[in-house]
Amino acid sequence: MLEFETTNVWNHSIYGYLFLKYMPPLSDYAEAILYHHSSWKDIQNAHIQYGDYAAMIHLADRMDVAFTYHSGSEALIKLLNKSKALFRPDYFETAIQCIKNHSILPQLIDHSYRAENFKLCKTFHPSTKEALDYLKMVVYSIDFRSDHTVTHTINTVAIAVNIARHFHISEDELENIYLGALLHDIGKIAIPLSILESPGRLNDEDMFIMRTHVEETGYLIKGIVPDEIYQLAMRHHEKLDGSGYPEGLCAHDLTFPQRIVAVADIVSALSSRRSYKDPFPKEKTLSIIEQMGKTQLDPDICQYICTSYDQIMEDTDNSRIQVIDMYQHIVSEYERMMSQQHLATANSI
Ligand SMILES: [Fe+2]
Ligand SMILES: [Fe+2]
Ligand SMILES: [Fe+2]
Repeated sequence: MLEFETTNVWNHSIYGYLFLKYMPPLSDYAEAILYHHSSWKDIQNAHIQYGDYAAMIHLADRMDVAFTYHSGSEALIKLLNKSKALFRPDYFETAIQCIKNHSILPQLIDHSYRAENFKLCKTFHPSTKEALDYLKMVVYSIDFRSDHTVTHTINTVAIAVNIARHFHISEDELENIYLGALLHDIGKIAIPLSILESPGRLNDEDMFIMRTHVEETGYLIKGIVPDEIYQLAMRHHEKLDGSGYPEGLCAHDLTFPQRIVAVADIVSALSSRRSYKDPFPKEKTLSIIEQMGKTQLDPDICQYICTSYDQIMEDTDNSRIQVIDMYQHIVSEYERMMSQQHLATANSI
């Protein structure tokens, strides 16, 4: 158990720490993530805030690993006892009691613990701002997986909101567009990095996998967000002439807000760097949009893009710059921390 996953714990611990540090909703807890593979003694020596949480995550993490490889309560207790010295003593005793007396293992196996988890989640009532911060954290965690998609979602959101404002969309619908655009690619969490970062055009098989991100998005948000927002996210690759996916819907199926998100997604992709291309210059982006506006995308929206491109891009710069800044901070601090000898040598638990 101790050999497993302990030779290279710092890279993901540091990344997790920085990610939380720069995200508003959980920044206070960042250090607990940094030390989530450290012994209780090391956590105490580090004098961090929420060290008890680090100790709790550490123990839960190790229990999970031990449980995965050695099923059965007795085997698990035996294994945990071997590394007892690493854990905070009262947490360790509680964990053993949970295994012995509260049937924690059967609950993990038959997933009945989930009902309890959901019940607990329902007692959490975030403010609108907090809820948005959590949502952004999830979205950035997906975009930041690849250097090439860092600002894709936030660009799509900014472009979609700009278009919606231009067409005097109601405030309620504007909010839906904002959230639908924010969630539209959340299913990319399920797409392997090798495909997200593919340097050339995707082959048929990889393209098939890439396209499943829409269904994955649906799987993640169905029943959790209002139906309008779900549909906005699900239809961002549909085209007016039926050539889109996943359902091949047609013009009469697609609402104006859904058409806005579809155009915003394409403008964001064309005007940004992708693994397989540099950002397209304005002229190339606009000639593609103009062409697509003839059959595939809404002609009025495309016309607006073509006549107001510079102003739209200027408007989106602000959100883009903030996200790029955050990403660059995370990357440069990550490199600095990884190179620090004291962390590198402390990585054996
Ligand atoms: Fe970990
Ligand atoms: Fe997409
Ligand atoms: Fe997208």
